[in-house]
Amino acid sequence: MDAKTVVLGVTGGIAAYKSAELVSRLRKRGYIVHVIETKNATEFVTPLTFSTMSGQPCIVDTFERPETWDVKHISLAQAADIFVIAPATANVLAKLACGIADDMLTTTVLATKAPVLVAPAMNTGMWTAPATQENMITLMKRGVYVVGPEGGKLACGDTGTGRMSEPSQIEEEIVRILEHQKDLQGLHVLVTAGATREHLDPVRFISNESSGRMGFAIAEAAMERGAEVTLIHGITSVPMPFCTKTISVESTQELYDAVTTECMKADIVIQAAAPCDYRFEQIFTQKMKKQSGEPIVLRMVENPDIAAEVGRRKHYGQTLVGFAAETEKLTEHAMQKLEKKNLDLIVANDVTKAGAGFNTETNIVTLITRDEMEPIPIMTKKELAFVILDKIIALRASI
Ligand code: PMT
Repeated sequence: MDAKTVVLGVTGGIAAYKSAELVSRLRKRGYIVHVIETKNATEFVTPLTFSTMSGQPCIVDTFERPETWDVKHISLAQAADIFVIAPATANVLAKLACGIADDMLTTTVLATKAPVLVAPAMNTGMWTAPATQENMITLMKRGVYVVGPEGGKLACGDTGTGRMSEPSQIEEEIVRILEHQKDLQGLHVLVTAGATREHLDPVRFISNESSGRMGFAIAEAAMERGAEVTLIHGITSVPMPFCTKTISVESTQELYDAVTTECMKADIVIQAAAPCDYRFEQIFTQKMKKQSGEPIVLRMVENPDIAAEVGRRKHYGQTLVGFAAETEKLTEHAMQKLEKKNLDLIVANDVTKAGAGFNTETNIVTLITRDEMEPIPIMTKKELAFVILDKIIALRASI
């Protein structure tokens, strides 16, 4: 097999030092790596470091023409199997969104036909600025892949979202993109994520521990594989991926309304959200007062079963996927839900297991269809998202 070529653009941020490790990892995989630095990036890491690590001349200036670069008239834009920009500053993301080509990096990336992956890294304020967010949406709509940024302590001293993903994670994304084609292109995927919240009064509610991670990972993976994704999310506690359309809800009834409005357009519906099964019969408009030591009885009524309603409305060619969060009799309960909700696939997680279920980075599940049951070992929710999408594609191919 021919070695894949990765063109790595490095822009001016402190995370540039991590890009040297990324080059080393990619070379160990047998990839050919060419590095293009912006002038600002050279202030953080010298071109000599990247030339040495990559075994190829590191290119900085637009008018530089290293001897080996022009061989057989193959430009880096054409040679790339994937174009990666890590770290990607707010500035370079803005240039990419506008098609500005004023240095070697932006000129080459504009010319490439290869998939482009960006690993943003910047201060939280810059990341959340409307201009950056709108640029990201533009880039995502054009099919640009995104990894990170992560939350945590930033170089500027702030804490928040903006850290570049670790080189191992960027490497994982590169491998995934090189291996997967846009096999969901032309399909509309509806994903639900996160917890719903049922209020008792303006300050009290019941809910659950769902962080949104599982649904977000699926939405992100589906975007990466070329789908149009509508993400409907309840209360979540982690950064949200960019999707074609995003709808925010709070209660199960709101989730029901949004899902039943959107589901007819979807080819694939994946319900990873954890809706509250019950709501308070009465919602107090003012904060409830203590009852002088007397016990109180609060009546709850059942919420609609959203997945069951989607199952009732299922149309030809649609694939329905649910999750089952169980604490006992995992497969038995999950199979009942598969049947009752008219699903094609149910992803059963035993939420009592360490590393599985609510608010974890990983999950351990069993994929259950009408014909088979496949236990999946512990893996990150993003890795699992790809496994679930692979399964859905296989199911759709078999009808
Ligand atoms: O968000 P994370 O922190 O990453 O956690 C992930 C998760 C544990 C929430 C996820 O993996 C998961 O299991 N989601 C489903 C949680 C759940 O509500 O399970 P359930 O067994 O109660 O419901 C079965 C299915 O019916 C689910 O697809 C659910 O979305 C749906 N449902 C449930 C209740 C309801 N009223 N309407 C529904 O549609």
